[in-house]
Amino acid sequence: MVDWSAMKTVVISPPILYYGTPVALLATVNDDGSPNLAPMSSTWALHKTIVLGLGLAGQTIANLRLRPELTINFPSPELWEHVERLAPLTGRTPVPEAKLANRFRHEAQKFKEAQLTPIPSEIVAPPRVEECPLQFEARVVDIQTSTGDDEPFAIVQAHVERVHAHESIVLEHDHVDVEQWHPLTYKFRHYFGRSEHLGKTFRATR
Ligand SMILES: Cc1cc2nc3c(=O)[nH]c(=O)nc-3n(C[C@H](O)[C@H](O)[C@H](O)COP(=O)(O)O)c2cc1C
Repeated sequence: MVDWSAMKTVVISPPILYYGTPVALLATVNDDGSPNLAPMSSTWALHKTIVLGLGLAGQTIANLRLRPELTINFPSPELWEHVERLAPLTGRTPVPEAKLANRFRHEAQKFKEAQLTPIPSEIVAPPRVEECPLQFEARVVDIQTSTGDDEPFAIVQAHVERVHAHESIVLEHDHVDVEQWHPLTYKFRHYFGRSEHLGKTFRATR
């Protein structure tokens, strides 16, 4: 047993607060009809809605304001280097000052650059990422803008209309096999892979 009362805490000021969330690849449609693809991790699910935190300097939020459809693709740990190929890129041109200062460059062909494969969606215009085991087709239902931080961002709510999953992670009755599905996690700017199965909550249906 851990003696928690013996655990001392210290006050710290970490440069970022990315405590550890799954990576998602968002596909949206650019003005010219081509797809944009961006990695992100500030996301969570509430019933059939996914809440996404997106910086206002990016192309993804610009696309979503004009064309409110997207796919949310969840890569597995072995895809981390593909994700990292996208990390210094933006679909936005000219590249905003803040992004230039952070060494971002413009790239129009994100799928090609990441060596990932776009496949058509069934309901929305943006393509899905073939290599990602979980792919959600979604429509934006709300965008709130927040300027109360150093870097302004938007909180986007997207309603999931269709879920696609690789057969290898699916059990019967629409369940995801939690022993087979492992999200790629982004923790204080480091990528992490599979985690240990500890147990299940009282509401788990499998
Ligand atoms: C693993 C990872 C997670 C990220 N998470 C977010 C995020 O949650 N929100 C966000 O706005 N940007 C996030 N970024 C940064 C965006 O990917 C970056 O701003 C990119 O230029 C956006 O592309 P776009 O301008 O084409 O939309 C993340 C980057 C990486 C590599």
